This record gives sequence, structure tokens and C-alpha cells, in this order.
Amino acid sequence: MKVTIYGSGYVGLVTGACLAQVGNDVLCVDIDPDKIEKLRRGESPIYEPGLSEMLQSNQAAGRLNFTLEPEEGVQHGLFQFIAVGTPPDEDGSADLQHVLAVAGTIGEHLDEYRIIVNKSTVPVGTADRVRARTREILDKRGLDLEFDVVSNPEFLKEGAAIDDFMRPDRIIIGTDNPRTTELLRALYTPFNRNRERIIAMNIRSAELTKYAANSLLATKISFMNELSNIAERLGADIEAVRNGIGSDPRIGYQFIYPGAGYGGSCFPKDVRALEHTAKENGYDAELLHAVEAVNFRQKQKLFEKISDHYNGDVKGKTFALWGLSFKPNTDDMRDASSRVLMESLWENGASVQAFDPEAHHETQRIYGERDDLRLCDTPEQTLEDADALVVITEWSQFRSPDFDLIRDKLRAPVIFDGRNLYEPETLAARGFSYHSIGRQT
Ligand code: UGA
Repeated sequence: MKVTIYGSGYVGLVTGACLAQVGNDVLCVDIDPDKIEKLRRGESPIYEPGLSEMLQSNQAAGRLNFTLEPEEGVQHGLFQFIAVGTPPDEDGSADLQHVLAVAGTIGEHLDEYRIIVNKSTVPVGTADRVRARTREILDKRGLDLEFDVVSNPEFLKEGAAIDDFMRPDRIIIGTDNPRTTELLRALYTPFNRNRERIIAMNIRSAELTKYAANSLLATKISFMNELSNIAERLGADIEAVRNGIGSDPRIGYQFIYPGAGYGGSCFPKDVRALEHTAKENGYDAELLHAVEAVNFRQKQKLFEKISDHYNGDVKGKTFALWGLSFKPNTDDMRDASSRVLMESLWENGASVQAFDPEAHHETQRIYGERDDLRLCDTPEQTLEDADALVVITEWSQFRSPDFDLIRDKLRAPVIFDGRNLYEPETLAARGFSYHSIGRQT
């Protein structure tokens, strides 16, 4: 089948690569010439495990192409996927200008039946606005062509995006036309083997499902972070409590890891956007507000612990930082907790020596060259002449380090662990002053 995808970011590229991988003829459209140039050379503009290889092999097979020309895009695919960004506005609402621009472009070039599929995370009611924009442009052209708009939200996780797309938990199809459900069902057949994954519903329910999933996951995390702060004060160990509650299948073990707060391009933005949509519709979403407030506070937690340890004076101190990306297996720094920590350290006169397996380039792009930030080639290098080690992203290579080496290299044996990777007893026995989340030190 022929598929066009507007937007070559995480969602667009993964969708394009995976749909091409199962034999479809995919054309990706983007307005950024550098990005398209890079993709045509077989280079992925983002780091995502397995993506480069998949882009290259499908491009070589002629099933995946890239263009700057929207007209080609509209002519190419029966399915017109919108996967452009929806960055948050100042007030937390999602900025729909890119989505609506694509809807307009489709209207400008449409000359036969097309299905417009919204994959971007968009507020409830966006499909109606997409339909209205495309219709408005068609009216201007004096054309009365038929088209459908579908909401088909994406649930991929960065770092596991290919696998999530190839083996989805569910495929949500929101439509008001049963015929489009069947056409999308045909497109998704290769990803819908063994058991039925397609859940069809009306458009607004599909749009809300995406926000509901992310907000509930964010709520689980904020709940655990809140509990970790209570546990610290009560002489309890949040890790034991986590095990204790996770064993209840109604609660489950997933997404109840306390830490340095959630980040990334989705949770912070989506919780705020849902809160904003609720407010616009006359409802004060108190729980969502609290989820966000707890996360804001949690992101400052590591700096508070560090500051407390040094009696409020970190001026002139150097901190070794392990991990910069908002979570492992990505180079994404959007809303990363490491940024809150580094910025607080810098404001208070401390400097940072950091290592991340993938995010140095992004870090440099955001902060440029500065005297109080050194990006090191290995985790060990960060320790040289540093006053303490701070672990903030749980990359697997940080899970079992050489503690003797850490102790020897640091100026003093002090570790702040924002992800509870190590055992307090083991570290105490090795002479470390160890500070983690929701446990006794
Ligand atoms: C999230 C959702 O998990 C995906 O299902 C969804 O499709 C995606 O957003 C999206 O809307 O596009 P992602 O942002 O890639 O995916 O990252 P997650 O793996 O969900 O992690 C989010 C943050 O929560 C990270 O900062 C992570 O460190 C934190 N987290 C996660 C915790 O602090 N504790 C946990 O137990 C789990």
C-alpha cells in the first residue's frame, strides 16, 4: 500500500521505517532540507536503536523515500499520516500550527480520495479542526472531494520504538467511518497477528486515550516519588515498599520506580496539555495539577540532597555526572532531570564533569561551550578531581561499576544516586556516603 508521512521526527521516522519494512511504499515529507538531505544519504537525524539500519535497508530496497515536496506527498499515499510536532505553548496547550499547516497542504493538492491519519499527540477535537482546515482549502479551490480523518495515536517509547511499533500492545483507531477502519485494519495486518490488537472507537475517544495513557503513567511515577519523600521521613525503604505493592497485580511492577522525576518530550507536555484542555472545558483537573507539581519538586530533589550534604555551599565544587538523557537508550534531553540539576549546580557556583553514552552532542547543542561543563569520554574520567558522583540516568553500564576505582578517584567517597541503582548497605560497607531516593542513608 502507498503511505505518505508528514514529519520526520521520532514518530514519523519510526512509523515510516516500520511500514516500509513490511512491504509498503512509503514517502516521508519534511520541510527541513538538512534533515531530508541527511536521510537521503542514509543517516538518521536521531538516535534510536535499530532505526538507522531499518531506514537504510528500506531505502536501498526502494520502499522508503524522502521529499521536501508536499505535492508529491499528497499524490503518493492513500494514507496521509500527520506526524509533525505539537510543542507546548506558554500556557501548556499543544501548539497545532504544524498539524494544521499539513491539513492545509493536503487540501491544496488533493485530487482524489485520501485518508488523513493523525499520529501526532493532539488535543481532543483536533481531528475536527484538521477536517475543517482541509475542507476550507478545498472550498477555496471550488472542489467537493471526499476525504476522511482518523485518529491513530502512537504509543511508542523512545529507546524501544521499533519494537513497540512492530509488536504493539494495541492499535487505536478513532474514526466516524467504518470503511476507514477496514482500510487501516488492512494496513496494520502485519502488526496484528496472533491476537486482535485493533481497538476501534470514535475520534474524540481515541484522541483522549493517548492523553489518558500518558497521564496515568505519569501519575504512577509522581505517586511513587511522593511516597519516597514520605518513606525517607518515616525510616522506611521505598524499594521494599515498591516490591511490596507491585506484587499486587492490580498495581503491577511497571512504572512505579521512584527517581529524579520524569522527563522527555511526552509526559510533561501531555499532562499539562490535558490539564489545559480540561480547564478550557470548565473542569479543574486537580489530580493532574498535583502530578505535575510533584514532578517539578522531584526534579530539584538531587540538588537539594547535594546542597544539604555540603551545608548549602557547593561553590567551587566539581560533580561527576553519570547520564544526561531523560532516560537510557536515547540522546533526547528534552525536559531531562539532568538539566535541572546542572543548572542548579551552575547557579550555585559548582561545575560538572559529565558522561552520557549518547547525549553529548545534544548537551553541547543546548549549552554550548562553558567552563563549568566538561563532557568526558568515559564514566571514569568524570571522577578525576571530582568531589562526588551523581547518577541521574540509569544506563545499564552504570549498574555495576568498580566501586574501589570510584572511591580512589573521587576526592571524597560520596555518591548521590537519583535512580536507586545501588544497595545502601553495600556502599556503606565500602565506606561511601551514599544518598539515594526514599531510602535511609
Ligand atoms: C512515553 C510513554 O511511555 C509511551 O507509551 C508514549 O508513546 C510516549 O511517552 C509518547 O507519548 O510518545 P517516553 O517518553 O519515550 O514514552 O518515555 P518513558 O519510558 O515512558 O519514560 C518517561 C520518563 O519517566 C523518563 O524520564 C523515566 O525516567 C521516567 N520513569 C519511568 C520513572 O521515573 N519511573 C518509572 O517507573 C518509569
